[in-house]
Amino acid sequence: MKQTSKEGRIHVVLNPKEKPVLAADWPDQPEHSLLRSIEQEMEALIGLSGLKTLIRELYASAYISKKRTEAGIETKGHMLHMLFTGNPGTGKTTAARLIASMFKRLGLLEKGQFIEAERADLVGEYIGHTAQKTRDLVKKALGGVLFIDEAYSLARGGEKDFGKEAIDTLVKQMEDHQNSFILILAGYPREMAHFLSMNPGLQSRFPLIHHFPDYSVDELLQIADVIAAEKKYEIDHDSRHILTAIIEQEKRLSGFRFANGRNIRTLIEKAARRQAVRLMAQSVHSKKELKMLKGEDFQLSQ
Ligand SMILES: Nc1ncnc2c1ncn2[C@@H]1O[C@H](COP(=O)(O)OP(=O)(O)OP(=O)(O)O)[C@@H](O)[C@H]1O
Ligand SMILES: [Mg+2]
Repeated sequence: MKQTSKEGRIHVVLNPKEKPVLAADWPDQPEHSLLRSIEQEMEALIGLSGLKTLIRELYASAYISKKRTEAGIETKGHMLHMLFTGNPGTGKTTAARLIASMFKRLGLLEKGQFIEAERADLVGEYIGHTAQKTRDLVKKALGGVLFIDEAYSLARGGEKDFGKEAIDTLVKQMEDHQNSFILILAGYPREMAHFLSMNPGLQSRFPLIHHFPDYSVDELLQIADVIAAEKKYEIDHDSRHILTAIIEQEKRLSGFRFANGRNIRTLIEKAARRQAVRLMAQSVHSKKELKMLKGEDFQLSQ
């Protein structure tokens, strides 16, 4: 479904009433083994139903596009540059990495490397330096994905700033290397709308705009389990209410800048350190104790 936001941008969002695209509805053909492995990777991601639908749509487009070519229907490659909006820790970098790896395995990208960059990697210190720096970065990303986080910071400083030169160079590079790399720009929603207004050619070059909503407390608890399991810890069942209260408080204290999944990662890392200190008081440790994070280990991160 398409929706026009307050800033006048078109956002592709999943209407809760709209049926999500599910791969389970597609016939299980042997050539879909790649899809199955992507589905498995997506299973580890909590929530993100809109993103999962987008990824299945991209898979379907690539697959059917191949079938169309095989049937002699001439097709032009699609532009796949994307714009991700969302608050910190909502999964934008994780999603971009997954998309880069899927496109490589689908043969849509020659190498599939994932280059993560920020303002300082594009903007130089003197006239002419920025254009060269930006071109060099794009060159490194050819055959893969160039992911620019906090892209709106390029628009900081307005017309006279070197950031503007970086934006203009990026637009030119997208033109020159049409389907040889995918550019994904990420940032907070409001700031990204301002960013797009900096160059008239920008808007139309990003056919895919995806918004990453904040996670619910329940989703954040599930993310806590995923991150704890990654690090071979378990969260004590009896302490879940303490963790819930801490997450709710963190959300309240940080307002719209709450760092979602990143905040949860910090909470777990801090809890692991506090568990270590707690266990130092004992001389013998069972395997269960070594794995378990208890209520007393969790503390507000600020
Ligand atoms: N849906 C999810 N399921 C499991 N873990 C998640 C999910 N979303 C985010 N995380 C975890 O939260 C952390 C932050 O995610 P990520 O870096 O992808 O967010 P981001 O939107 O790029 O953040 P930022 O804007 O701060 O760069 C990562 O450690 C990731 O593992
Ligand atoms: Mg990120």
